[in-house]
Amino acid sequence: MITTTKELLAQAEKTNSAIAAFNCYNAETIQAAIAAGEKANKGVIIAYGERYQDYMNIEAFAAFTKALAAQASIPVALHLDHSYQLETIKKAISAGFSSVMYDGSALPMEENVKTTKHVVELAHAEGVFVEAEIGSMQKGEFSDEEEGDGKLTDPAEAAWFVKETNVDFLAASIGTVHGMYKGEPNLQLDLLHDIANSIEIPLVLHGGSGTPEDQILKAIDRGIRKINVNTEISLAAVKTIREQLNENPTIHLSNLMTAAQDHMTEQMVRIIEVYKNN
Ligand code: 13P
Repeated sequence: MITTTKELLAQAEKTNSAIAAFNCYNAETIQAAIAAGEKANKGVIIAYGERYQDYMNIEAFAAFTKALAAQASIPVALHLDHSYQLETIKKAISAGFSSVMYDGSALPMEENVKTTKHVVELAHAEGVFVEAEIGSMQKGEFSDEEEGDGKLTDPAEAAWFVKETNVDFLAASIGTVHGMYKGEPNLQLDLLHDIANSIEIPLVLHGGSGTPEDQILKAIDRGIRKINVNTEISLAAVKTIREQLNENPTIHLSNLMTAAQDHMTEQMVRIIEVYKNN
């Protein structure tokens, strides 16, 4: 069934767990994520990023996801990930996304606050929830996200930002990177604890790929309720495609993509099971 990001994060709060938000951009990623949620019996967030618009049309993406969600045995929420353009946010709201992320983290603070406030007004008027980011994340390997300067989130600034903008979820920069880590991951868990104590809304962790399980679990215990995962799943699919093509260079495309989808599902189930924090 289709649900909202807000509802899923509220349930995660009750069970001290986190919801996986998988970046999806084609039929296989959406199908894999929903199948994984069903296998693990846990709700999932299907997260579409603005930069994938040329790859899969946003309205088609929403319609496809909603059709599959309606048949699913678990709750599925549709979320717009990193978006920089108001035009994309408006399209997502009309297409039925339950939440949108406006990423003004690279802007001067005053401008970030002003535009985020505007997005919140637009979105809330239509019953859509808003995620924003304070601080900025660096890029590791194999990610297709924007590079950030790695500025960690300041708890006092986060509290002020949430109050000013009235956003519903906050992405905090606590040492994860987009993509695979070049060195040893080292999440700033004390900082996360302070951020969680300074705000009341659910916290989001970007850069789930490659983050060690013990650090993920500590982050969930300190209040992370949604974790975004992209690169690790793409790498899993590409590995399967490479292996399949080596084995059979003239494989039918439908079989090739089914193999990739099955491997993505397997990896997503593993990730969801960790995020349950049992
Ligand atoms: P990873 O690519 O590191 O999993 O990060 C995904 C993400 O944070 C998308 O918003």
